[in-house]
Amino acid sequence: MAILVAGIDSSTQSCKVVIRDSETGALVRSGSAKHPEGTEVDPEAWWDAFLQAVEAAGGLGDVAAASVGGQQHGLVALDSSGRVIRNALLWNDTRSAEAADQLIQEHGGTAEGKANWARMTGSVPVASFTATKLRWLAEAEPENAARVAAVALPHDWLTWKISGAARLEDLTTDRSDASGTSYYDTAAGQYRYELLAQALHISEEAAREIVLPRVLGPNESAGTGDPARGWGHLVLGPGAGDNAAAALGLGMSTGDVAISIGTSGVVSAVSPEPIQDPSGTVNGFADASGEFLPLAVTLNGSRILDGVCRMLGVDHDQLAELALAAEPGANGLTLIPYLEGERTPNLPFATGSFIGLSLASMNPQDVARSAVEGLLCLLADGLSAMTSLGVPVNSIQLIGGAARNAAVQQLAPAIFEREILVPEPDEYVANGAARQAAWVLSGAEAPPAWAASSTTRFSAEPTRFVRDRYAERQMLFAERP
Ligand code: XUL
Repeated sequence: MAILVAGIDSSTQSCKVVIRDSETGALVRSGSAKHPEGTEVDPEAWWDAFLQAVEAAGGLGDVAAASVGGQQHGLVALDSSGRVIRNALLWNDTRSAEAADQLIQEHGGTAEGKANWARMTGSVPVASFTATKLRWLAEAEPENAARVAAVALPHDWLTWKISGAARLEDLTTDRSDASGTSYYDTAAGQYRYELLAQALHISEEAAREIVLPRVLGPNESAGTGDPARGWGHLVLGPGAGDNAAAALGLGMSTGDVAISIGTSGVVSAVSPEPIQDPSGTVNGFADASGEFLPLAVTLNGSRILDGVCRMLGVDHDQLAELALAAEPGANGLTLIPYLEGERTPNLPFATGSFIGLSLASMNPQDVARSAVEGLLCLLADGLSAMTSLGVPVNSIQLIGGAARNAAVQQLAPAIFEREILVPEPDEYVANGAARQAAWVLSGAEAPPAWAASSTTRFSAEPTRFVRDRYAERQMLFAERP
């Protein structure tokens, strides 16, 4: 009989559970449930969605192992009895932008501060990162900050809940998610309590009293499920941040790049070396296989297309048709798509702009085209930042909701100036988590070699002038110092 494993993707918008055959990776069953909207969320809502998704997936009674992939960075602050102190602040909550600036300035001013953070942790803090949220908490809600006895990330907290453990000391995490906190030295693989102390305005001694989840190795178990729920047989994997889980789900290795267009836009690549970008454009995270996963992340992703669909009163297929009916460059119209502020470039309070409107471009085709081109130019800048740091790029896979859009598929190779592979739509984060669970269960050196999904190739004539014009117009938005 097949041994089954579960992969869980606790993402910004929903919780997805896939149950797969541990040897072949074949999908056996799956379920999902929605998360509430908003950039601050009660973690209990993730737990409820997880329980619903598990039930929809037929339960965990016959499942041997499970791992959780989760949205990165979110601050889950726990008090000494393990209770959540306040709603979790998510990665896309920008209220700690000022705090991120402060943390940088405190390390020697803008340029030096950024370089120091990149050297100390692998990344320059932005509002998404956990340490900036702690600084915000210390200043805006000091009474809550004083109660912090442990700090977990969404996937750490969910794994802990599944285990039924009550002790803070039983919290675990993995390298990929720890590397997005800004108090973890990604290259050395250890916490930096002085940075935690700095974020919270407390002494290093006091910071060492705060429980940080134990960082597990890529195939190290986090224990077993909660016997009280009938999950005592369930081996728990270390879990991972969603981007690292997706890389594992896609079977990425050095030279492979994934561009994921979901709520966020993410350009990620597997690198054997830690990457430290003093400009902060690329985050030098760890991956879930023991290597590194430099990332460039935009706050704006598929919702750029959602918004323009709403504006034009069309659905996504119609948007693609309109965009493909227009000429490259949309008759001079550019959408700078910083609709919810932006993280890369670091413009947390920016709004978007249509630039170059003329009577010739004020039509649904050109508006649709400018939206797709704007989204792709935003991501292309992340890709360029990656290559300029020497990250090897041999192949590019496009995943996430917006990768299904025909205009995105056809225009991406023109804007990225490379061939694009589009794997069939799948739950790559949940799949990666399931593959990790199978790896932990096997006790083998490497994750199981599950069959790769079939991909479609897209190529196109480069349209360099579109990017050049975007670059020129984007300069109107000065990045925060
Ligand atoms: C990564 C990041 C996002 C979230 C989305 O740095 O902030 O990709 O992980 O879930």
